[in-house]
Amino acid sequence: MNEFYQKDIISIKDFDKEKLEKIFVSTDKIIKLNPAERREICKGKTLAYLFYEPSTRTRLSFDSAIASVGGNSLGISDITSSSAQKGESLADTVRIMSIYSDVLVLRHTLDGSSRFAAEISEKPVINAGSGTEEHPTQAIQDLYTIKKEKKKIDGLKIGIVGDLKYGRTVYSLLHGLGNYDVDVRLISPESLRVRSDSIYEIKKKLDFTESTNIDEHIDEFDVLYVTRIQKERFPDEEEYLKVKGSYVVGLDLLKQMKDDSIILHPLPRIDEISTDVDNTKHAKYFEQAEYGKHVRAALLGLILNEHGF
Ligand code: NCD
Repeated sequence: MNEFYQKDIISIKDFDKEKLEKIFVSTDKIIKLNPAERREICKGKTLAYLFYEPSTRTRLSFDSAIASVGGNSLGISDITSSSAQKGESLADTVRIMSIYSDVLVLRHTLDGSSRFAAEISEKPVINAGSGTEEHPTQAIQDLYTIKKEKKKIDGLKIGIVGDLKYGRTVYSLLHGLGNYDVDVRLISPESLRVRSDSIYEIKKKLDFTESTNIDEHIDEFDVLYVTRIQKERFPDEEEYLKVKGSYVVGLDLLKQMKDDSIILHPLPRIDEISTDVDNTKHAKYFEQAEYGKHVRAALLGLILNEHGF
């Protein structure tokens, strides 16, 4: 039996290097198959999505991923149009949606929401973002992108810049990178440094340094992972205004970077990467979004097929 069959994806912490590499191999396979072969993988299966927060890429990439492997999707992308608005609990909504589907994809404002949902759901739950805590499928997509674009993960120097306090993709990525031999530099305004309680475990697995200065060591990075300032998670707008626009990756910064370095971003981008970077060979964030669809198709194929595909 394949080890992912009927399993939840709640935290990247549940994935060691061996599991990650298996997902990468399956993703390569998805990419290589022709569309008709791919559509056999999850033929007739239904994915339900339940999004309590806005999303473009994550929801649509799950939608298009399940379609690419022959399944279909239904769900709630705007919670104001659902019975949650009438006061229905997350527990009841999850219970109902899991009856109508084979796998449930949840995005919620609260940390712990996916773990809670997984206890209630009869079907596997995939965490598509839980508060400021985790976004595991984004991290798998990020690692896959690094591997495809740099041909390896071990040995790389990686800069991660932006809102490291509230950005959940950062925590999942750091835990994922903890499985590899990488050198990480965390760059953020002082007030947006990584939350020390959340990186307590990462410290044991990962070598990293912290800085507020993006220029220092910029010429050493193989990968620069840029994140947006998470405006909606600031308790106080004043605090947001103080850090807004702290870092902008533009052509001047690129000139200082290695010729073969790559720029990643989970997207959405606000103003932290100027659009003139998009047409340079360094920009890989749109490829990253495309890989996301294939990674999710592979995960669905593994979760929904007892013997894999
Ligand atoms: C991220 C998220 O929702 O955490 N978006 C995404 O899924 N690609 C990043 C963000 O919102 O900044």
